[in-house]
Amino acid sequence: MLRFITVLAAIATGALSVAVSPALAPDIDQTTQLPLVIWHGLGDDFERDGLQEVADLAASANPGTHVHLIRLADTGGGDRQATFFGNVTEQIATVCQQLAAEPILSSAPAINALGFSQGGQFLRGYIERCNNPPVHNLVTFGSQHNGISEFQSCKTGDWICNGAEALLRSGQWTDFVQSHLVPAQYFRDPNELDDYLEHSNFLADINNERVLKNTDYKKRLATLNKFAMFMFDNDTIAVPKESALFAEVNITSGTVTPLQERPIYKEDWLGLKQLDGQGRLDFKSVPGQHMHLTDKILERTFKEYFGRVQNSQLRLQMESQQEPVTQPFSGSSGLLVQAQPGF
Ligand SMILES: *[C@@H]1O[C@H](CO)[C@@H](O)[C@H](O)[C@H]1NC(C)=O
Ligand SMILES: *[C@@H]1O[C@H](CO)[C@@H](O)[C@H](O)[C@H]1NC(C)=O
Ligand SMILES: *[C@@H]1O[C@H](CO)[C@@H](O)[C@H](O)[C@H]1NC(C)=O
Repeated sequence: MLRFITVLAAIATGALSVAVSPALAPDIDQTTQLPLVIWHGLGDDFERDGLQEVADLAASANPGTHVHLIRLADTGGGDRQATFFGNVTEQIATVCQQLAAEPILSSAPAINALGFSQGGQFLRGYIERCNNPPVHNLVTFGSQHNGISEFQSCKTGDWICNGAEALLRSGQWTDFVQSHLVPAQYFRDPNELDDYLEHSNFLADINNERVLKNTDYKKRLATLNKFAMFMFDNDTIAVPKESALFAEVNITSGTVTPLQERPIYKEDWLGLKQLDGQGRLDFKSVPGQHMHLTDKILERTFKEYFGRVQNSQLRLQMESQQEPVTQPFSGSSGLLVQAQPGF
């Protein structure tokens, strides 16, 4: 009945040739609403009201969106603790298992991903190391893609944060700190590059900065349909703020080297140049302090990046993902390192 009415209307407007084209058959759904995974930032947890509000906003901006909040523990307290303490390699392996085992995510053709602050570089790690289920669009807000060169200060009385700080000061490049303190694993001061390349447990690897490059990291990241990075213009918490756009900052001279002028891009260690050349890498900024997001900005972003996707576009993306990767990542048992009480 519906088809009949459509054709009649088309005849009436003289557009018959368009109306009978098989591509317009009205009973074939041409688009899919992909699920969304969100990885929150340092000091946050999956039970926070704020995070649930973001999830609700994502579902109202794009009706039918299934939202999964990534968690590294079954309780909010444990999940928050894991933002400070743990081996990020093992945390990402846990998330790879979590997403692959979640029934809705694992049966979707692809997922969208939203990373807040450190959750952004960790989601990039997920893509580079496993990407199963595969990510269609990745959006990161105030993430430290090029690391931090200062540690953030804690609120007084926040013993988890203070404990982490004390541990950091005991030696950021020791194996102990690199395997237990989350922010230390993306600490990167251009003036300490040798130590970083030698000891960084996470960022130096995921950014393919060492002599031996992991070609699978590049292949997997280059399959993204869109990678959008947002910087907060007045961010004084994540230092330097330009890390959110993958730029390097010399904190002594204040010189900012944009991604496009850096070897990581020019020699394309990660596929970022490839993405950029295809118009799939977005550099954005939003006003205000670190993670001061308005509903308006979130809604606009969700509509732009997490809306319904043409099935034909998904098929193309999946074909490019089917190229065999040579070295599957086998870093860990997937166990989460829990902080010891009294750390
Ligand atoms: C940073 O800038 C200072 C001052 O200009 C310079 O001496 C130093 O070599 C620079 N560091 C790096 C890593 O380029
Ligand atoms: C952000 O910083 C700019 C200068 O860098 C300043 O003009 C503006 O008022 C600041 N905005 C907020 C919201 O603090
Ligand atoms: C972090 O965990 C991985 C996987 O278990 C392990 O290979 C690596 O050595 C650990 N990192 C450190 C600095 O201990």
